[in-house]
Amino acid sequence: MDFINIAKQRHSVRSYKNQKVEPEKLEQILEAAHVAPTAANLQPVHLIAVQSEEGLAKVSKAVGIYNAPLAIIVCADHNKAWVRPFDQKQSGDIDASILTDHMMLQATELGLGTVWVCYFKPDVLREEFNLPDSLEPVNILVIGYSDDDPADTNRFDTQRIPMSQLVSYENL
Ligand SMILES: Cc1cc2nc3c(=O)[nH]c(=O)nc-3n(C[C@H](O)[C@H](O)[C@H](O)COP(=O)(O)O)c2cc1C
Repeated sequence: MDFINIAKQRHSVRSYKNQKVEPEKLEQILEAAHVAPTAANLQPVHLIAVQSEEGLAKVSKAVGIYNAPLAIIVCADHNKAWVRPFDQKQSGDIDASILTDHMMLQATELGLGTVWVCYFKPDVLREEFNLPDSLEPVNILVIGYSDDDPADTNRFDTQRIPMSQLVSYENL
Protein backbone atom coordinates (compact mmCIF):
# COMPACT_ATOMS: atom_id res chain seq x y z
CA MET A 1 0.00 0.00 0.00
CA ASP A 2 1.18 3.56 -0.71
CA PHE A 3 2.51 5.47 2.27
CA ILE A 4 -0.23 8.11 2.08
CA ASN A 5 -2.93 5.46 2.16
CA ILE A 6 -1.39 3.83 5.23
CA ALA A 7 -1.24 7.25 6.88
CA LYS A 8 -4.89 7.92 6.01
CA GLN A 9 -6.01 4.50 7.20
CA ARG A 10 -4.37 4.92 10.60
CA HIS A 11 -6.61 6.20 13.32
CA SER A 12 -6.61 6.02 17.07
CA VAL A 13 -8.09 2.71 18.18
CA ARG A 14 -9.56 2.57 21.66
CA SER A 15 -11.16 -0.87 21.52
CA TYR A 16 -9.18 -4.08 20.95
CA LYS A 17 -9.97 -7.72 20.26
CA ASN A 18 -8.77 -10.34 22.70
CA GLN A 19 -6.10 -11.45 20.24
CA LYS A 20 -2.34 -11.37 20.71
CA VAL A 21 0.06 -9.70 18.30
CA GLU A 22 2.13 -12.34 16.52
CA PRO A 23 5.86 -12.35 17.41
CA GLU A 24 6.83 -11.77 13.74
CA LYS A 25 4.65 -8.65 13.65
CA LEU A 26 6.12 -7.35 16.89
CA GLU A 27 9.58 -7.93 15.46
CA GLN A 28 8.72 -5.92 12.33
CA ILE A 29 7.31 -3.10 14.44
CA LEU A 30 10.46 -3.00 16.55
CA GLU A 31 12.60 -3.07 13.40
CA ALA A 32 10.75 0.04 12.17
CA ALA A 33 11.86 1.74 15.39
CA HIS A 34 15.40 0.46 14.98
CA VAL A 35 15.84 2.10 11.57
CA ALA A 36 14.35 5.45 12.61
CA PRO A 37 16.61 8.49 12.53
CA THR A 38 17.68 10.35 15.67
CA ALA A 39 19.54 13.62 16.08
CA ALA A 40 23.25 13.12 15.33
CA ASN A 41 22.44 9.38 15.36
CA LEU A 42 22.91 9.43 19.13
CA GLN A 43 19.94 7.08 19.63
CA PRO A 44 19.01 8.27 23.13
CA VAL A 45 16.06 5.91 23.21
CA HIS A 46 14.91 2.70 24.81
CA LEU A 47 11.80 0.63 24.21
CA ILE A 48 10.05 -1.58 26.71
CA ALA A 49 7.70 -3.98 24.92
CA VAL A 50 5.07 -5.23 27.33
CA GLN A 51 2.84 -8.19 26.53
CA SER A 52 2.59 -10.32 29.65
CA GLU A 53 -0.52 -10.12 31.79
CA GLU A 54 1.61 -8.96 34.69
CA GLY A 55 3.39 -6.30 32.62
CA LEU A 56 0.16 -4.98 31.10
CA ALA A 57 -1.31 -4.73 34.60
CA LYS A 58 1.69 -2.59 35.57
CA VAL A 59 1.13 -0.29 32.57
CA SER A 60 -2.57 -0.10 33.46
CA LYS A 61 -1.66 1.37 36.83
CA ALA A 62 -0.32 4.40 34.92
CA VAL A 63 -3.06 4.61 32.26
CA GLY A 64 -5.96 2.59 30.86
CA ILE A 65 -4.86 0.78 27.70
CA TYR A 66 -8.21 -0.45 26.39
CA ASN A 67 -7.43 -4.15 27.00
CA ALA A 68 -4.82 -4.09 24.25
CA PRO A 69 -2.41 -7.05 24.21
CA LEU A 70 0.72 -4.99 23.59
CA ALA A 71 2.08 -1.70 24.86
CA ILE A 72 5.45 -0.28 23.94
CA ILE A 73 6.84 2.25 26.37
CA VAL A 74 9.08 4.63 24.46
CA CYS A 75 11.72 6.22 26.67
CA ALA A 76 14.22 8.99 26.05
CA ASP A 77 17.61 9.04 27.70
CA HIS A 78 18.25 12.67 28.49
CA ASN A 79 21.90 11.98 29.29
CA LYS A 80 22.50 10.77 25.75
CA ALA A 81 20.31 13.09 23.67
CA TRP A 82 21.72 15.69 21.35
CA VAL A 83 21.62 19.29 22.58
CA ARG A 84 21.49 22.24 20.19
CA PRO A 85 24.34 24.51 21.26
CA PHE A 86 22.55 27.79 20.46
CA ASP A 87 19.64 27.40 22.86
CA GLN A 88 20.25 24.04 24.63
CA LYS A 89 17.13 22.46 23.13
CA GLN A 90 17.38 18.75 23.66
CA SER A 91 16.26 16.21 21.07
CA GLY A 92 15.23 13.31 23.34
CA ASP A 93 11.45 13.77 23.06
CA ILE A 94 11.70 14.34 19.32
CA ASP A 95 13.80 11.22 18.81
CA ALA A 96 11.44 9.12 20.94
CA SER A 97 8.47 10.41 18.94
CA ILE A 98 10.05 9.59 15.59
CA LEU A 99 10.49 5.98 16.74
CA THR A 100 6.91 5.96 17.97
CA ASP A 101 5.58 7.23 14.65
CA HIS A 102 7.61 4.68 12.65
CA MET A 103 6.21 1.87 14.81
CA MET A 104 2.67 3.21 14.62
CA LEU A 105 2.67 3.31 10.84
CA GLN A 106 4.39 -0.07 10.53
CA ALA A 107 1.71 -1.54 12.79
CA THR A 108 -0.97 -0.01 10.56
CA GLU A 109 0.62 -1.58 7.51
CA LEU A 110 0.51 -4.94 9.29
CA GLY A 111 -3.25 -4.60 9.83
CA LEU A 112 -2.99 -3.66 13.50
CA GLY A 113 -4.69 -0.85 15.37
CA THR A 114 -2.79 1.58 17.59
CA VAL A 115 -3.24 4.52 19.85
CA TRP A 116 -0.44 6.86 20.87
CA VAL A 117 -0.72 7.63 24.56
CA CYS A 118 0.86 10.47 26.51
CA TYR A 119 -1.79 10.76 29.22
CA PHE A 120 -0.12 8.51 31.75
CA LYS A 121 1.35 8.89 35.19
CA PRO A 122 5.09 8.97 34.56
CA ASP A 123 6.00 8.43 38.20
CA VAL A 124 3.93 5.24 38.27
CA LEU A 125 5.63 3.91 35.12
CA ARG A 126 9.02 4.80 36.58
CA GLU A 127 8.29 2.88 39.72
CA GLU A 128 6.64 -0.14 38.10
CA PHE A 129 9.41 -0.57 35.52
CA ASN A 130 12.33 0.56 37.71
CA LEU A 131 13.36 3.26 35.28
CA PRO A 132 16.56 5.13 36.14
CA ASP A 133 16.31 8.91 36.52
CA SER A 134 17.96 9.50 33.14
CA LEU A 135 15.27 7.54 31.28
CA GLU A 136 12.00 9.38 30.74
CA PRO A 137 8.91 7.55 29.50
CA VAL A 138 7.78 9.85 26.68
CA ASN A 139 5.09 7.89 24.85
CA ILE A 140 3.24 4.63 25.14
CA LEU A 141 2.23 3.02 21.87
CA VAL A 142 -0.76 0.76 22.46
CA ILE A 143 -1.12 -1.93 19.78
CA GLY A 144 -3.52 -4.75 18.97
CA TYR A 145 -6.23 -5.95 16.62
CA SER A 146 -8.88 -3.28 16.36
CA ASP A 147 -12.40 -3.97 17.52
CA ASP A 148 -13.40 -0.59 16.15
CA ASP A 149 -14.87 0.34 12.77
CA PRO A 150 -12.27 1.30 10.16
CA ALA A 151 -11.79 5.05 9.90
CA ASP A 152 -13.11 7.04 6.97
CA THR A 153 -10.03 7.78 4.89
CA ASN A 154 -11.66 11.03 3.71
CA ARG A 155 -12.16 12.36 7.24
CA PHE A 156 -9.27 14.79 7.11
CA ASP A 157 -11.29 17.53 5.38
CA THR A 158 -13.20 17.94 8.63
CA GLN A 159 -10.83 16.48 11.23
CA ARG A 160 -7.75 18.47 10.36
CA ILE A 161 -7.15 22.17 9.90
CA PRO A 162 -7.23 23.19 6.23
CA MET A 163 -4.00 23.01 4.26
CA SER A 164 -4.13 26.79 3.89
CA GLN A 165 -3.90 27.11 7.65
CA LEU A 166 -1.27 24.39 8.02
CA VAL A 167 1.17 25.58 5.40
CA SER A 168 2.48 28.89 4.25
CA TYR A 169 4.97 29.28 1.47
CA GLU A 170 8.09 31.36 1.79
CA ASN A 171 6.75 33.55 4.61
CA LEU A 172 4.45 33.16 7.59
C1 LIG B 1 1.53 13.14 21.16
C2 LIG B 1 0.19 12.45 21.21
C3 LIG B 1 -0.36 12.13 22.43
C4 LIG B 1 -1.57 11.46 22.49
N1 LIG B 1 -2.05 11.04 23.72
C5 LIG B 1 -3.20 10.35 23.77
C6 LIG B 1 -3.67 9.82 25.00
O1 LIG B 1 -3.03 9.96 26.04
N2 LIG B 1 -4.84 9.12 25.00
C7 LIG B 1 -5.56 8.92 23.85
O2 LIG B 1 -6.61 8.27 23.92
N3 LIG B 1 -5.15 9.41 22.66
C8 LIG B 1 -3.99 10.10 22.59
N4 LIG B 1 -3.52 10.55 21.37
C9 LIG B 1 -4.30 10.32 20.16
C10 LIG B 1 -4.88 11.64 19.63
O3 LIG B 1 -5.92 12.06 20.44
C11 LIG B 1 -5.34 11.39 18.18
O4 LIG B 1 -4.23 11.00 17.41
C12 LIG B 1 -5.99 12.64 17.55
O5 LIG B 1 -7.17 12.96 18.21
C13 LIG B 1 -6.30 12.42 16.07
O6 LIG B 1 -7.14 11.31 15.88
P1 LIG B 1 -6.70 10.07 14.99
O7 LIG B 1 -5.45 9.48 15.62
O8 LIG B 1 -7.84 9.09 15.07
O9 LIG B 1 -6.43 10.54 13.60
C14 LIG B 1 -2.28 11.16 21.30
C15 LIG B 1 -1.71 11.49 20.07
C16 LIG B 1 -0.48 12.10 20.02
C17 LIG B 1 0.14 12.39 18.66
